[in-house]
Amino acid sequence: MSPSLSALFSLAGRVAVVTGGNSGLGRTVAQTLAAAGADVVVVGRDRARCEATVRAIEADGHAAAWVDCDLSHRAGLDDHVVRFAKPFGMPDILVNAAGINPRPPIEALDAQTWDRTLEVNLTVPFLLAQAVAPTMAQRGWGRILNFASLQSVRAFGRSGAYGVSKAGVAQLTRVLAEGWSPRGVNVNAIAPGFFPTPMTQPVFDDPARAQALAARTMIGRNGAPDDVRGAAVFLASRASDYVTGQVLFVDGGFSAG
Ligand SMILES: NC(=O)c1ccc[n+]([C@@H]2O[C@H](COP(=O)([O-])OP(=O)(O)OC[C@H]3O[C@@H](n4cnc5c(N)ncnc54)[C@H](OP(=O)(O)O)[C@@H]3O)[C@@H](O)[C@H]2O)c1
Repeated sequence: MSPSLSALFSLAGRVAVVTGGNSGLGRTVAQTLAAAGADVVVVGRDRARCEATVRAIEADGHAAAWVDCDLSHRAGLDDHVVRFAKPFGMPDILVNAAGINPRPPIEALDAQTWDRTLEVNLTVPFLLAQAVAPTMAQRGWGRILNFASLQSVRAFGRSGAYGVSKAGVAQLTRVLAEGWSPRGVNVNAIAPGFFPTPMTQPVFDDPARAQALAARTMIGRNGAPDDVRGAAVFLASRASDYVTGQVLFVDGGFSAG
């Protein structure tokens, strides 16, 4: 007997860790996975924003906890993973949403900025996946959901290291999927178009630029936070049991034009 549609999309009994869960798209995903039934651990550096996100989730009647940590220090990652597991146990779902985009023009892009961007956006998702996937594989079910970008496949101004890191995330998604999917751990990515968040404030502060980007989508507008909710639940739930190694563009058709 096939599961009901609500069981297919339910995250009841699952534990989700969402890096970058205290802001922007990560926050929307954290709230959405909690609404779908998961116990959610919100991860970020800014304590106040972590606490505020958890309070908002709890106010909606769901369980959440937060861990404040700086993921850019590779040496501390194992300790961070131990802290992620404290509230609810090791995760069934890892969402790698933490990211940075320092935006220097290409001629000013130095090695330090390059290294930091690649570390936070690409190496940390890899290392966190390696840390949590073995437990998921032992259980026979897990989900890793990365955040790629329109910039995985398109070059935009002032985004050199960021675009390269996001191209890497797309391929990381495929190689992790190749390795872990036979043991029930599906790995996919959401590739958003342009959404107004703290990261994209420089874009949205310029209405003409934001409108020009909207005009390049097929739907005719930039993203709104709620636009990632359906993709997140789909890729975090049993509904995507036969979907792995995919980059799902949530971009109003921008990348298809
Ligand atoms: N917004 C868009 O249009 C768009 C488009 C394509 C892809 N994306 C991707 O979507 C994801 C979410 O981005 P967003 O737009 O929602 O940006 P955002 O609001 O700026 O969120 C970035 C998140 O990353 C966390 N973070 C950054 N550095 C960290 C570190 N060293 N340690 C721990 N956490 C760290 C931040 O928390 P703290 O500051 O508290 O550490 C914050 O929660 C990113 O991967 C981004 O690349 C966004």
